[in-house]
Amino acid sequence: MKVLGIESSCDETSASVWNGTSILSNVIASQAIHEQFGGVVPELASRAHQQKIWSTVEQALLEAKLSVQHIDYIAVTNGPGLMGALLVGLSFAKGLALQTGIPIIGVNHMDAHIYANFVGEKKPTFPFLALTVSGGHTQIVLVKNFFEHELLGQTRDDAAGEAFDKIGKMLGLTYPAGPQIDKLAKLGNKKAFKFPQANLEGYEFSYSGLKTSVLYRLKQEVEPEAFVAQHLSDLCASISDAITEPMVKKIKKAVLEFEVKTVVLAGGVSANGMLRSKMKTLADNHKLNLFVPDIAYCTDNAAMIAITGALKAERGMIDTLGLKPFASST
Ligand code: KG4
Ligand code: ZN
Repeated sequence: MKVLGIESSCDETSASVWNGTSILSNVIASQAIHEQFGGVVPELASRAHQQKIWSTVEQALLEAKLSVQHIDYIAVTNGPGLMGALLVGLSFAKGLALQTGIPIIGVNHMDAHIYANFVGEKKPTFPFLALTVSGGHTQIVLVKNFFEHELLGQTRDDAAGEAFDKIGKMLGLTYPAGPQIDKLAKLGNKKAFKFPQANLEGYEFSYSGLKTSVLYRLKQEVEPEAFVAQHLSDLCASISDAITEPMVKKIKKAVLEFEVKTVVLAGGVSANGMLRSKMKTLADNHKLNLFVPDIAYCTDNAAMIAITGALKAERGMIDTLGLKPFASST
C-alpha cells in the first residue's frame, strides 16, 4: 500500500510517501520567515505553504521514484492547526484526489505524532501511554487501541514547546528556541536556578507561571542582558528541568495508575535531550518499553501523516471530498 502524506498545519510544508513498511521520502520545507517575528505569523504561513505545496509533493514523489498514479491513498492533516495553513494542504489534497480518483484520508495531527512511533519494525503494543508535547499541545493520552484514545490531561495554558519558545525569546534566542535551549542546556547546571514547577492535580500541566517567574528573575538584574550572557547555559538547563520534570512525574503516576508497560514520546518537544534522558531513566527503573521517534519524526513531518493514513486505510477509515478542516482539538 502506497500512501502520500501531506502536512501543512503550522510552519512546515511537508510531503512523504510510505509503502506500508518503509518511508520512501519525507520532504520538509521549513518557513524561515517567522524567525524575525519571534513566532509563527498565520497569514505568512498560509502564503508560504501555497508557494511550496506543489514542489514539495512533486519532490516527495520524485524521491520515492513514483508518479501519482502509483499512490493508493492521499492522507492529509485536517487539524488541529492554523486554519489558513490547513486549508492549503487540504485543498491541494482534495484537488489531487478529485483529479486522480485516489481516496482521501483526513489525519489528526496529534494522532500522527503518536503513530510516528510506528515507523520502525518494533511497534508499541496496546495499551500504551503517549506524552504528546509540541508547540501547541501538552497532553497525556491513554492509547487503548488504534484510534481509541483517552485524553487523561493536558496543559491549562501554554504548551511545553510554547514555553520553550517564549522563554527563549526573553533570553534573546530566535524562534523556535526549543532546540537552542536544548543544546545550551547540555553545557549547564540544572540546579543553578530554582524555577517553579506547577504541581497540578491529575494529569494537567501549566507553564505560564514558569514564564512569569523567568521574566521576574531577569528583571531583578540591573543589566539583564549581561546576566543572561553570563549564565545562559545554566538558565537553559534550569528552565529545561522545570519544563520536563512535571512530564516525567505525570507519566510515572499514569504508569502506576493504569498499569501500563509501554510509553511513547511524541511531538516536537520529544526531541529534547533532557526529556529523553529522564524518560529513559524512568523506563529503566520501572521496566517500561519506551518508544522515542527519531528526531526527524518528532517535529512536524508528513511521514507521520502517511503512516497514520495507512493505519486508517487498513481499518477502512476513508473520507470523502467533504472532509473539513478543524483548528482546535477541543
Ligand atoms: O511538533 P512540532 O514540530 O510542531 C507543532 O505541532 O507544534 O513542535 C514544535 C515545537 C516548538 O515549540 C519547538 O521549539 C519545540 O517543538 N522543539 C523543541 C526541541 N525541538 C523542537 N523543544 C525542546 N527541545 C528540542 N530539542
Ligand atoms: Zn506537530
